[in-house]
Amino acid sequence: MFEGSRFLRACRRQTVDTTPVWIMRQAGRYLPQYRATRARAGDFLSLCKAPELACEVTLQPVELLKVDAAILFSDILIPVEAMGVPLQFVEGEGPRLEPVRSEGDLRKLHVPDPAAETGFVLDAVRLIRRELDGRVPLIGFSGAPFTLATYIVEGGSAKSFQKVLAWLYGDPESFRQLLDVLAETVILYLKAQVDAGVQAVQIFDTWAGMLSRRLYREFALPGTRQIVQALRGCSVPVILYVNGCSPFLEEMAASGVDVISVDWRVSLAEASERIRSAVALQGNLDPMALFAPRPALEHEVGRVLGSAPDRGHIFNLGHGIQPETPPEAAVALVEMVHRLGRKEP
Ligand code: CP3
Repeated sequence: MFEGSRFLRACRRQTVDTTPVWIMRQAGRYLPQYRATRARAGDFLSLCKAPELACEVTLQPVELLKVDAAILFSDILIPVEAMGVPLQFVEGEGPRLEPVRSEGDLRKLHVPDPAAETGFVLDAVRLIRRELDGRVPLIGFSGAPFTLATYIVEGGSAKSFQKVLAWLYGDPESFRQLLDVLAETVILYLKAQVDAGVQAVQIFDTWAGMLSRRLYREFALPGTRQIVQALRGCSVPVILYVNGCSPFLEEMAASGVDVISVDWRVSLAEASERIRSAVALQGNLDPMALFAPRPALEHEVGRVLGSAPDRGHIFNLGHGIQPETPPEAAVALVEMVHRLGRKEP
């Protein structure tokens, strides 16, 4: 009766036996197994660039947590480095990039050939598909042009987005050129991931939530639309995540994506109503709920499930899992979703 995986069925708003669940950043520092593999790799970037080890950490949460989808282990900044922006990850600080701040800097960037310049990502995809052997689908991903632009212009994780907004307001024409190069890069990168075997893709526009609705329409949405249109022939579901998406739910639903990944600040019931159930919803437990005692966590899981649409819901957190999260809480979460999300036969 339920052919295909419950994750892919839910992306297409088909019936499922129970609610599928995966966790943003499910392969990460909260897992001792991840920390052990990263230590063997030496550092985070080396882990991303070693297909065998990237495959190993991708599979860890599938086996330990029993989630319904695997997500490729990599980082949104990998294609940015391939564009010609030197990148390092500094322990305790996060990413550090050589910033691009002017039209002159822009000319130093190029659109990378995914196979030639990020071949290790595609090797990881092929290896993961082989090792998963059909157990659960594999999700590929990319940052969205606007979110990638924030890292490139700020030179790392932004606190106030001062430099990126100064460019956007001061010289929108050349800022759009940056977004265009990024959109072209993301399109080739995601197509290559699909060709290598990913069965769904998630676009992370994490920081677009700091824009006004007008600026979201002008500077973030067009890039997402371009990507969705380019991927139309690939027939894999496309998921769009924006942290702080509440002001733009209507725009996101009209962008052509199959699934909107909603943060915890807005209820799924309100989201469904505003988008008139036009697309599936993913989310939206507050990642901090995983630090609460078990009965409180279960109560929150029940609340999210109760607020979700009947068809077309993929359970997830509203943002990535925190590194301090007890792994047992993540295991318990997946069990709760599968038990409480069960549908009447
Ligand atoms: O979800 C997964 O399990 C797949 C792997 C994945 C990572 N990063 C691994 C990672 C994915 C999908 C990402 C996406 C990503 N990377 C985003 C968008 C999602 C989001 O959380 O908003 C962003 C903004 C980045 C950029 C990035 N990468 C930052 C800002 C940092 C440092 C902050 C931090 O948490 O340390 C990273 C590092 C990173 N990416 C880690 C992991 C597991 C931690 C690195 C480590 O092991 O020390």
